[in-house]
Amino acid sequence: MKIDLWNPESFAAGHPHAQYDWLRANDPVHFQEEPNGPGYWAITRYQDVYDVDRSFQSFSSEPTIMIQDPLNQETSFGGYKMMLMMDPPQHTAFRKLIRQEFTVPVSADRTPRMQQLARQIVDEVIERGECDFVSQVAGEMPSYVIAELMGMPLDDGRELYKLTEAIHTTAGGSPTQEGAVAVFKMFDYGRKLIDEKRARPKNDLATKLLQAEVDGKKLDDVEFLLFFLLLIDAGGDTTRNLLSSGMIAMLESRDQLNWLMQDLHGRLPSAREELLRWCSPVIYMRRRATRDIELGGKKLREGDKAVMYFGAANRDEAKFEHADTLDPSRRPNEHIAFGTGPHGCLGQHIARIEIDAMLVEVLTRMKNFELAGAPKWLPSNFISGPQVMPVKFTPARRMAVA
Ligand code: HEM
Repeated sequence: MKIDLWNPESFAAGHPHAQYDWLRANDPVHFQEEPNGPGYWAITRYQDVYDVDRSFQSFSSEPTIMIQDPLNQETSFGGYKMMLMMDPPQHTAFRKLIRQEFTVPVSADRTPRMQQLARQIVDEVIERGECDFVSQVAGEMPSYVIAELMGMPLDDGRELYKLTEAIHTTAGGSPTQEGAVAVFKMFDYGRKLIDEKRARPKNDLATKLLQAEVDGKKLDDVEFLLFFLLLIDAGGDTTRNLLSSGMIAMLESRDQLNWLMQDLHGRLPSAREELLRWCSPVIYMRRRATRDIELGGKKLREGDKAVMYFGAANRDEAKFEHADTLDPSRRPNEHIAFGTGPHGCLGQHIARIEIDAMLVEVLTRMKNFELAGAPKWLPSNFISGPQVMPVKFTPARRMAVA
């Protein structure tokens, strides 16, 4: 079996499950070469991924969670870091600033608004009977939700979201010029947002962040901008990709889809969790060993990179019975698509509400939904999902009052 988890080509048709299967069985902590770097340990078993993600003392998120180290000061934001790339206790202090906005009850309060947005999104395409599902349906929801959270116009959320794709697209695994430009454009927008929220504070997350303090000190502009970038980035194409690849998975398993439709509202919670396990939109997170340590029979040296493959962990037979079967009735389902430990996805409760709201609209209103062409997958070894997905369905009338 040829193993190459670094090459984005390996992900050109979705997760490379044949490679994952072989690795879990034969070399669960596998040394993977990388062209312009020292190489890294690829971790594919559920229990190892789980343990590494929770052991922040031994596996640090600094200097980055990407495989490639920051090339220079410019790409590492002059020494500033995103919360995603901090360790406790610094990480804990930063996460505390926004934690309240993402709890189960606060997220649940947003449900009616998200359902309304989902109705509007489907309205925009429903009369046509065809569309690109990724950009015109699945991608709309997360960008609107982030816009609402931050107190920005919905259309701006959509523009910013487009930039995240440029950031996640890599050329041969390395960041592109286009990606760097996209980061600068986002910062530019973020700066305008800072001016706006300082001049006219509102009850939104952007205003709260600007007023918040870490260790008695307000966030400076760069710290704010990195929060801004993280939220747009983390909440955007993850949710979009889950919806798109989730729909593909359901179309490929008609029996499972029929089972779900017999009691959509009752069965959606387990089906949604199974789609998260099955699609695992985030391919990996990387850590750095802070000491010599043994893992899966291999000796990792201090400073080694350790990369957790969530999609591989989520198909581990040792954890999930019939792991290679899509089973929307699966319970319990302790998938690790949202990660775990100190960095476990902060937006997971909101993501679940977004996913449910969208799936209900799509599955109940876009009748006879099917692919109208082959989906084109995102060429990324970091984020998994289709980039383009032409679909057709029976046209119907709009519903929402604009
Ligand atoms: C299907 C959708 C999503 C998936 C699969 C997903 C997955 C992930 C994963 C794997 C991590 C890293 C966890 C780890 O290192 O253990 C993460 C972190 C994060 N996610 Fe999500 N995410 C999704 C949606 C969202 C949404 C909608 C938001 C915000 C509105 C969000 C905000 C965040 C933030 C802020 C972090 C960093 C947490 C930290 O460093 O403490 N995510 N997510």
